[in-house]
Amino acid sequence: MDVQIAILPGDGIGPEVTTEAEQLLAAIAERFGHRFTLQHGLIGGIAIDETGVPLPDATLQLCQQSDAVLLGAVGGPQWDNPNAEVRPEQGLLGIRKALGLFANLRPVTIHPLLMHSSPLRPERLEGVDMLVVRELTGGIYFGEKRRERTTDGEWASDLCLYTQAEIERIVRVSAEAARTRRGKLTLVDKANVLETSRLWRSHTTRLMQQEFPDVQFETMLVDACAMHLLRRPADFDVIVTENMFGDILTDEASMLAGSMGMLPSASLGVAAAGATTRMGLYEPIHGSAPDIAGQGKANPLATLLSVALLLRYSLQLEAEATAVEQAVQATLAAGIVTGDVAAAGQQVYGTAAVGDAVVQQLLAA
Ligand code: IPM
Ligand code: MG
Repeated sequence: MDVQIAILPGDGIGPEVTTEAEQLLAAIAERFGHRFTLQHGLIGGIAIDETGVPLPDATLQLCQQSDAVLLGAVGGPQWDNPNAEVRPEQGLLGIRKALGLFANLRPVTIHPLLMHSSPLRPERLEGVDMLVVRELTGGIYFGEKRRERTTDGEWASDLCLYTQAEIERIVRVSAEAARTRRGKLTLVDKANVLETSRLWRSHTTRLMQQEFPDVQFETMLVDACAMHLLRRPADFDVIVTENMFGDILTDEASMLAGSMGMLPSASLGVAAAGATTRMGLYEPIHGSAPDIAGQGKANPLATLLSVALLLRYSLQLEAEATAVEQAVQATLAAGIVTGDVAAAGQQVYGTAAVGDAVVQQLLAA
């Protein structure tokens, strides 16, 4: 396969982890006989510093011409003022919207050897294997924002708006994923308070009855979900939810896996009929971690597992994706881990050593 992949390293530890991903992609190309052309683009704080904007036109064009995009992380203390006109996060939100990446897939699985690094007791974590599908281009993130000053002081508002079509397309992605897994879908909303949630609930319930009667379907209020994620996490298979609830719940769910440094994500657009590739953006769910940036300590596994998702969802290379996941498992089993997931007294390795070990496992398999 001959494809082009855009690499957007971004800020903080972003470039450190995408370097390992590039090396892994080269190893996959070698082992499986593909040609991956990798091209770099600017995004986030570094793009602001170099061009004045967080998402330069050149980056967007590069992504639009590519078959898939791999992103490191954006943001950092030097661009942290939330009242600034230009902020790194606008680059991330902008690219998601511009590429139409409405379906954000965040799988949460736990390697048995890493159970010790979760704040939850191991018996609670037994059997945890969930996929959170977060709607990514609508809702309160993208609704009209206002801020005004009156004689009584200031007021502000963020509009949360969803259309039936936006709900239906993400529910279909989620229910199809459930079919390939344990066959269960949980819609998380706040239908006892929010009108948007009532729209989600009525259309999702109808669509599930009409199109996915074989998938077990339940609804759950978001506050209860926050609790059940800790109380009985193994009961969840696929969760589908709106943009902001998904943002919050996936940070919570990441703690089940012990470290945010382990969790990948995929953001997908519409699959074009008959096409062999599907546009997607892949990124670790952790941020730019400015506190450890430049020290070679970052866990590259979330990014390497994001490469697996890229191979699976954008390039339909299932064997290659599985090979990456197995190489990551083998590296963990060999005890080659960064500090965030090391057990007490266990030897700690750096970003490059872990990345190299995964490549070795992949080529040795
Ligand atoms: C995420 C992040 C982003 C979001 C931020 C950086 C804008 O928290 O990908 O979850 O809120 O979507
Ligand atoms: Mg988030």
